[in-house]
Amino acid sequence: MTGKTILTGVKPTGAPHIGNYIGAIRPALQLAATHKKSYLFIADYHALNAVHDPQALRQDSYQVAACWLSLGLDPERTVFYRQSDVPEIFELTTLLSAVTPKGLMDRSHAYKAVVDKNTSEGRDADADVNMGLYTYPILMAADILMAQTDIVPVGKDQVQHIEFARDMAGYFNNTFKPVFKLPEYQLEKGGALLPGIDGRKMSKSYNNHIPVFMDTPARKKLVMKIVTDSKLPAEPKNPDDNIIFQIYAHMASVDEVASMREAFEKGGLGYGDAKQALFQVLEREFERPTQLYNEYMANPARIDELLEKGAEQARIIARNTLSMARMAAGLKPLL
Ligand code: TRP
Repeated sequence: MTGKTILTGVKPTGAPHIGNYIGAIRPALQLAATHKKSYLFIADYHALNAVHDPQALRQDSYQVAACWLSLGLDPERTVFYRQSDVPEIFELTTLLSAVTPKGLMDRSHAYKAVVDKNTSEGRDADADVNMGLYTYPILMAADILMAQTDIVPVGKDQVQHIEFARDMAGYFNNTFKPVFKLPEYQLEKGGALLPGIDGRKMSKSYNNHIPVFMDTPARKKLVMKIVTDSKLPAEPKNPDDNIIFQIYAHMASVDEVASMREAFEKGGLGYGDAKQALFQVLEREFERPTQLYNEYMANPARIDELLEKGAEQARIIARNTLSMARMAAGLKPLL
């Protein structure tokens, strides 16, 4: 258990697959369990820049909340909230904007990617760019800095955002006086190489993914569809170019993985039996969470209640940080 504060935000983007679970959800839950202070929130205002369908935004937010809760997030230990329930974050965004050079936003990878795409397609450079996308990193810095965060676990695509948050904390601290802790990122790497059922990287856009939440018959059917070569059960097989084994290796215990590896290498383990073993470990891990997930989704009032409690807690530190920042800048402290 370390005394450091960890924080991470998740955009509401629908139901997860097991690649998301292995690469992002499971490591974040482990970090939350080993740190004294942890914050996890649903970045709904970030999503709003791209999602302009109110029903979808609401539903996706419930889904992502139900997902984390059913996979083991403990709201008694981790402050779990909706970004939009903590208005202090948005005031802090305005304070940070006053010390953030426009050029920093111009260098943002996410913004530049859209500009490059527009330019290469012969469109206006800023076509479809709203101010929310452009200033996305400032809101993200406010998310992080308000909680006096030490560590932000992120995927590679988010590293620049954490560096920017550090920069903004530095601009503010140097312009006025030290108010914000400088956050660091911690890279999550697992899961990136998880293959889908056809062997390409697991991804919803390839439609080769295994969802985390599915009923038992559907899960079984999907596992049985994993692509294999035509080696007979008795033949020795290389586990490392075998999709079943690669997924199993992320889900089963060390002993189970070792014994499947040996059985493949020696010969005698057929793909049908290996699929059955994979199905069993997926059931072991996800059958109960699937039930819980369905229960939460049937009871959104329960989710609201939990998230509102989390927001109350988040607002305590947010108000404190914001009040200090206001005073540092020459404004009145919060009442
Ligand atoms: N931008 C992050 C993503 O797309 C989500 C996010 C918003 C976030 N605010 C954050 C992540 C603060 C970490 C810390 O995944």
